[in-house]
Amino acid sequence: MNPTNASPDPTSTDPTSPDRTGTDPTSPDPTSPDRTSTGPGRRTALVVGASGITGSALVEQLTADGWEVLALSRRPATSPGVRGIAADLRDPDSLRAALAAEAPTHVFFTAWQRMPTEAENIAVNGGMVRDLLAALAHAPVQHAALVTGLKHYLGPFEAYGEGTMPDTPFHEEEPRQPTPNFYYAQEDELVAAAGRQGFTWSVHRSHTVIGHAVGNAMNIGLTLAVQATLAKELGLPFVFPGSETQWNGLTDMTDAGVLAEQMIWASTDPAGADEPFNIVNGDVFRWRWMWPRLAAHLEVPADRVVGFAGEPRPLEQQMAAYESEWPAIAAKHGLVEPDISRLASWWHTDADLGRDLEVVTDMGKSRAAGFTGYRRTEQAFADLFARYRADRLIP
Ligand SMILES: NC(=O)c1ccc[n+]([C@@H]2O[C@H](COP(=O)([O-])OP(=O)(O)OC[C@H]3O[C@@H](n4cnc5c(N)ncnc54)[C@H](OP(=O)(O)O)[C@@H]3O)[C@@H](O)[C@H]2O)c1
Repeated sequence: MNPTNASPDPTSTDPTSPDRTGTDPTSPDPTSPDRTSTGPGRRTALVVGASGITGSALVEQLTADGWEVLALSRRPATSPGVRGIAADLRDPDSLRAALAAEAPTHVFFTAWQRMPTEAENIAVNGGMVRDLLAALAHAPVQHAALVTGLKHYLGPFEAYGEGTMPDTPFHEEEPRQPTPNFYYAQEDELVAAAGRQGFTWSVHRSHTVIGHAVGNAMNIGLTLAVQATLAKELGLPFVFPGSETQWNGLTDMTDAGVLAEQMIWASTDPAGADEPFNIVNGDVFRWRWMWPRLAAHLEVPADRVVGFAGEPRPLEQQMAAYESEWPAIAAKHGLVEPDISRLASWWHTDADLGRDLEVVTDMGKSRAAGFTGYRRTEQAFADLFARYRADRLIP
């Protein structure tokens, strides 16, 4: 199926035919290890944006599953089973040079750059998908999977929730919003390249991601962990920054691990080919229920935990006076990152929790197609905080 209103029409070729995917859908379990080890069935993943909150979860999952992994970013890292590739997605020459000798069979596109306007987001982020896939015209790509998000339904940051919102829970077949949106541009570039180059595609519309990264643009887990650390160290209240609607209403989130699992499933199972899919954990919660639980996981004393009262209290304003205390807190606890701007993305958590509309996401489509991944959101946060503690990013 085409993502709604996207063009050109990818249904012109049977999306599940062996010649498009390079795999035989009647063959045994496509995820069996013998297809990822050696020989003609070997799978090589190119993770684009591999150091990000989504990309790093993919690298971990693919490595654990025995894939050969190429990890592309501007500042790449190499680790056992993973070969870093340095390239700038905004420089087509750099991409062509870096990828000329590579032969990935599967592409996982998770990179993005935040620009000041949506027009620039479209030019830059749509262009990065186009140029990356063009630089792989020589490669035996079978499938390319793209991460986008619920702004597909909500509209871009500069027109967030301004149009007529689709009814919740959001379903994949909703028509596009009339507002220009870089996710639509990326989908269109993906589908066009799939048609030209003969691979299958999938799009993964994620809600707010719970995951592990440092120095990235949007990271609610680390942001809340830093807020809690400042509250504990400086004797501040741990104040919910968001709206009354978010405090009281139902919502959901996306663990980076379950997102990675869905992308790998769609890339390797014919039922996942040529479709957009929502991806959330599978449970729903209210922030008024979750906030004190997260505080307890972050060891904030119960008498410092403060919920919504009267109006949103954005972190950008709440925390501005205390950011300068972070280097001393880091030194006191032997933390590895003294620069708070690489840890906390206040603006993003403010935008996310400040929404004055209900955001709940339907998971029926990929479940019906065979993807049954699930996470408990509170546990995903607890596991993430434990990992940041072990990494000495928070005390
Ligand atoms: N984070 C969330 O909560 C969230 C929620 C919903 C949807 N999404 C969507 O998910 C997608 C992925 O976002 P993310 O949050 O996973 O990203 P991220 O954590 O900010 O990571 C971005 C990755 O892209 C790489 N990158 C950026 N610019 C590059 C360039 N010019 N050349 C090469 N590599 C480049 C970065 O590495 P270098 O800087 O080293 O190059 C990094 O590896 C985006 O479309 C985002 O809107 C995210």
